[in-house]
Amino acid sequence: MKQDLKSSPIPPAFVVKSMQAVQTGILNFANRLAPPFLQVLEAAAGTMSTQVIYAAAKLNLADLLKNGPKRVDDLAQETGSNPDALYRLLRVLASIKIFRESSDRLFEMTPAAETLLSDHPASVRPFALLVGDPIWREPWGDIMYSLKTGEDSFKHVYEMNFFDYLDEHKDKSALFNSWMTRVSNMNCPVIAASYPFSRFKRIVDVGGGHGSLLAHILKKHPGPDGVLFDLPAVVESATEIDESIASRCEKTGGSFFDFVPGGGDLYILQQIIHDWEDELAIKILSNCRDAMTKDDKILVIDAVIKPGNQRDMSKFIDLQMLLINKGGRERTAKEFKELFQKSGFQILKIIPTASMFSIIEGRKS
Ligand SMILES: C[S@@+](CC[C@H](N)C(=O)[O-])C[C@H]1O[C@@H](n2cnc3c(N)ncnc32)[C@H](O)[C@@H]1O
Repeated sequence: MKQDLKSSPIPPAFVVKSMQAVQTGILNFANRLAPPFLQVLEAAAGTMSTQVIYAAAKLNLADLLKNGPKRVDDLAQETGSNPDALYRLLRVLASIKIFRESSDRLFEMTPAAETLLSDHPASVRPFALLVGDPIWREPWGDIMYSLKTGEDSFKHVYEMNFFDYLDEHKDKSALFNSWMTRVSNMNCPVIAASYPFSRFKRIVDVGGGHGSLLAHILKKHPGPDGVLFDLPAVVESATEIDESIASRCEKTGGSFFDFVPGGGDLYILQQIIHDWEDELAIKILSNCRDAMTKDDKILVIDAVIKPGNQRDMSKFIDLQMLLINKGGRERTAKEFKELFQKSGFQILKIIPTASMFSIIEGRKS
């Protein structure tokens, strides 16, 4: 997974605003005072919003309008589009506050349009490009298959699982990783600032990928050393452990289903447990437990589904997991409690953060 720290650090307030923008984009039934018919109608039309924003991102309209208003005919020429069709697209976008028609067929930027700039520090553009792409749309289009079988509709559509498909299609992999990098760049600074990591001597990042979170933590907290643990090929190409922290960071390759390295006093697992069904999640946590002493701490960093009927984007992401990643799921606090208990841990506290994730702190029971 390629991760890029160049645009970090991002101020936490900015992250919160950006996450709200992302949520509003997905959960587009903001007008709660509208009659139920209109609320549901607007929600049901969400796929149309997805595709117009996708088209704006694909044509790079925000970048093209960044330096001032432009006429549709000029934009059509720059993007190789049909002028009438492009005008109709821009008119829809302006109706949802993305761009504004300032005079006849002349369009300009708006604050919402700025989130589609490619160099915006928390740009929504990679997300817009991903959710409008067939690899995202088609599994959602086949949602009935997943509902009937409990299996991943992605595999039903593409005849292979999502991650194998990405391995074979580098352009799609770049699309997915571009959004994952963005999420990581938004979340890691918030997570690094949301827990007293400096109290620890040695932090083991289990399934740490290319080291984005560990790098943020070690840079913010000069005390602890780190161990980046992931599959051998992943740690070999870990891009985020730069010279400034290399002497404090050891890389260990292996599978967390076989073992987890010992010697840490803090074990962190970000976006790991949500990838696996309970049985395998318990195996990973149990291997952490075997590596730990009774005073060590473990942090599972994942979305925690809000109880009841509360609005929560992780409920959508959970369904997304069902469609593309067999066995993957988001969990409630109660489900995490059971998972911890079955793995020989107790939860000490759940710390909500300004990112999408909460920090679930535990120790051996
Ligand atoms: C969703 S990514 C999360 C990466 C990182 N923790 C983060 O938050 O950016 C899942 C990670 O689990 C790693 N992984 C998958 N199977 C693994 C295994 N059997 N052993 C160790 N790591 C594994 C992947 O290589 C990937 O880096």
